[in-house]
Amino acid sequence: MRAGASFDFVIVGGGVAGLRAAIGLAPAGRVLVLTKAEPAESNTGYAQGGIAAAIGDDDSVRELIEWGARFDRAADGRPSLGREAAHSVRRVLHAGDATGREIGRVLWERVSALGAVETIDHALAAEIVVEDGRAAGVRYFDRGGAPQDVRAGATLLATGGAGQVFRDTTNPAVATGDGIALAFHAGARVADLEFVQFHPTALSRPGAPRFLISEALRGEGARLVNQSGEPFMTRYHPDGDLAPRDVVARSIVRESERTGGAVFLTLAHLDAAYVRGRFPTIAAMLKDLGLDLAVDRIPVGPAAHYMMGGVDTDVCGRTSIAGLFAAGEVACTGLHGANRLASNSLLEGLVFGARAAAAMQEPPRAAPMKEDRVMADGSGLMAEGTNGDHLPYAISHQPSAITNVRELMWRCAGLFRDRAGLEEAVAALDALADASHPATVDRARQRNLSTVARLIARAALRRTESRGGHYRLDYPARDDERWCVHVVETAL
Ligand code: SIN
Repeated sequence: MRAGASFDFVIVGGGVAGLRAAIGLAPAGRVLVLTKAEPAESNTGYAQGGIAAAIGDDDSVRELIEWGARFDRAADGRPSLGREAAHSVRRVLHAGDATGREIGRVLWERVSALGAVETIDHALAAEIVVEDGRAAGVRYFDRGGAPQDVRAGATLLATGGAGQVFRDTTNPAVATGDGIALAFHAGARVADLEFVQFHPTALSRPGAPRFLISEALRGEGARLVNQSGEPFMTRYHPDGDLAPRDVVARSIVRESERTGGAVFLTLAHLDAAYVRGRFPTIAAMLKDLGLDLAVDRIPVGPAAHYMMGGVDTDVCGRTSIAGLFAAGEVACTGLHGANRLASNSLLEGLVFGARAAAAMQEPPRAAPMKEDRVMADGSGLMAEGTNGDHLPYAISHQPSAITNVRELMWRCAGLFRDRAGLEEAVAALDALADASHPATVDRARQRNLSTVARLIARAALRRTESRGGHYRLDYPARDDERWCVHVVETAL
């Protein structure tokens, strides 16, 4: 490792998990937080719905409220609780429709006041430095594109999601799954990467960003309607508009194919002042596009939203490499199974960021393989498809490689998957695989994105059943006998 800065702890990522970990680590030593763009630019800041919680005396949300988070309250002063799909009761604390931004604000305020925590922004993490089988720090490219090494006793990946692997996503540009790629290339186990959640209602308007139109709208009574204005969800699921996310996402596509037209969200039957007051961010964004949230029909469709899979960790964020930790969306604790419920990701970041911070202060040790995991190389699996071997690495990056990967993944490994499409994706991504040390920012970006895409496509091809966010047209049924397992993969 080249000489470079040295810290007790380094955290890659400035979302809720990374910041919560920084707060926990500050009393124990010097902490460096690397953020990929501006400090507030993470999936956290884009989270609209809220944070699902049983508001008990000792939970993490109470801590956040004590630190100054302003959640909406009812007239009697009690927290106003929203509802989202597949939740049986109202339990979602929210700050208007910008809950993530509010939580990020509180955490950044706290972190900024901690003398032990330094932050470097516009830092693109490129590699985990491994020495004698242990994580020894991170190599990253600074804002000028120069490679830098930072050495640390414990390294936390808190890089968030990977929605940008797909052409259409609700995630910000920074969400390219960097932590998954870094961990994989360092030799850590990754798990469950076939489980990608597609949010049903991203704005779907040519030329406009795929802005998230929160599920909380349906929790307040918004309806999905077809081009004739007919509500249609009960035709697909008894829970109607609040059916599980994967069901709603697929139903929108099917309804659109059935009718030959777009699908819309409508709130026109609700009180207009209430709608605009409850969802001010969404209303303002739509207003810029000439749409009135309270009156107009809003065109919507699915977009990649959340990764259930990620870096395989124990419940304290330990990975299979001693000294390397992961928390938040980048990690796969198994917490969300194959299909996360709404408003559990901010909560996950808070809880597992804090847990990782505690574990990072202990003597480093690798997490052992959990009993419910099987290796992708065939042991314990009767899978068809990829055989889990490690193909020879070759490099053939095109200038438009990133765009091509995102298009490919949307077409072949998106909401509806089948063998032919997934084989096409795997073959194309195998040809892009690159195990060399990335020498430039562009190479690091491409390598991170195409590594994650390849892992998703391989995992989706391997799992010959449908479950949660993973839907195979050629294997539409769930198959507990063969597939009630978490499948893990390593590069080594
Ligand atoms: C939403 O507001 O619809 C998304 C919330 C989440 O994914 O947890």
